[in-house]
Amino acid sequence: MRRETIAIHSGFDADPATKAVAVPIYQTAAYAFDSAAHGAALFDLEVEGFRYSRISNPTTAVLEQRLAELEGGVAALAVASGQAALYYAFLNVADIGGNIVSVPQLYGTSHTLLSSILPRQGIQGRFAESDKAEAIARLIDEDTRAVFCESIGNPAGNICDIEAIAEVAHAAGVPLIVDNTVATPILMRPFEHGADIVVHSLTKFLGGHGVAMGGAIVDSGRFPWAAHAERFPTFNQPDASYHGLVYADHFGPEAFVARARSVYQRTTGAVLAPMSAFLLLQGIETVALRMERHVENGRKVAEFLRADPRVDWVSYAGFADSPYHDLARKYLGGQGSSLLTFGIKGGLEAGRDFYDRLKLIKRLVNIGDAKSLACHPASTTHRQMSAADQARAGVRPEMIRLSIGIEHIDDIVEDLDQALAAARTPAPQSSTRPAPGPIPAPAESL
Ligand SMILES: Cc1ncc(COP(=O)(O)O)c(C=O)c1O
Repeated sequence: MRRETIAIHSGFDADPATKAVAVPIYQTAAYAFDSAAHGAALFDLEVEGFRYSRISNPTTAVLEQRLAELEGGVAALAVASGQAALYYAFLNVADIGGNIVSVPQLYGTSHTLLSSILPRQGIQGRFAESDKAEAIARLIDEDTRAVFCESIGNPAGNICDIEAIAEVAHAAGVPLIVDNTVATPILMRPFEHGADIVVHSLTKFLGGHGVAMGGAIVDSGRFPWAAHAERFPTFNQPDASYHGLVYADHFGPEAFVARARSVYQRTTGAVLAPMSAFLLLQGIETVALRMERHVENGRKVAEFLRADPRVDWVSYAGFADSPYHDLARKYLGGQGSSLLTFGIKGGLEAGRDFYDRLKLIKRLVNIGDAKSLACHPASTTHRQMSAADQARAGVRPEMIRLSIGIEHIDDIVEDLDQALAAARTPAPQSSTRPAPGPIPAPAESL
């Protein structure tokens, strides 16, 4: 099936009990055993089935199968949020200690997880100078457990060369974990370019309506855990906390997701509620259609802003002179995403004034909603980072991040236009619009 069809049909045909065609919301904590022997067989993972919703749930299982198929993977685990998915994915490779090598352009909280939270648990986050494969390769050593990047960085909008980064990770015997939240599998499937594990915040474009939090880990099934037994003993040695199970042996290509579920979700419980799984499934049904409009509107907004003399700079990978345009062609068919950043003339103060004057576009910290959204990362999502880390992450003090929704383009542009007119920006020097100048690099790390 093609992705448009997978998004609607994968994982569910009709309810076996009622023939309902909408995915039922299995609002239950537990599931009856036929007998003590049946319960024991479920706990021993000898038979398929459900036992307790902290481990798995039939509504969530449909979502998991749909996500696995959308990404072209073999299995998925859906959890309570994107951050929980990232936390479990990092623990899964590195809970014995070691380091994770990352690009610097990350969502602020993911950066904090790697720079401040995981180090307290013996896992070091190492940030490369840039998102280039050579910069990443320089930081990999015998204690590295994974390489991490966002396929499209939030908010920097950089596009990672997944193929080149996967090559340096694999040369060192470690998996590449990719956060594919901004691209979604509709714009890019990282597994097709060598990534091993994909992580999502489902709260964003996949869910698409800003009504439910959720996250997911998707397993390509391709990383050879058994071939790297010394670096990854938890996949290759008997797990005393699960009666001596060896994950790589028992689960084969699904070992990563199976271990994340049995070890972290089972014992720490960042469970996705079945109602949220249902809402996210509803959103996913239209993701292909919505992404088309998101991308189209994103381009029109980028072009409008770039041609406006009140705007200082626009960072958008869909522009032919963007430093990421070649990668946009390689990975996104030349498209940009609907996430873009810009700065208006007059710097920080003018930018804040513009932000306060938006009427249709919502001021908040989310992306990927059907509604257009705006955020000032330096004072919100990336506030906890140092100025130097902000710069490396592609965050400038005056920068406004837009996540362009699927409203009528004229309404979006009219709102931007009125906010630009109302903001205290320096008056344009002449009445004829100058030709758009070159876009400044959004981060020193480009
Ligand atoms: C790229 C990216 N990854 C992960 C997350 C975290 O997801 P959640 O808010 O669902 O925990 C976000 C949130 O903005 C994000 O933008």
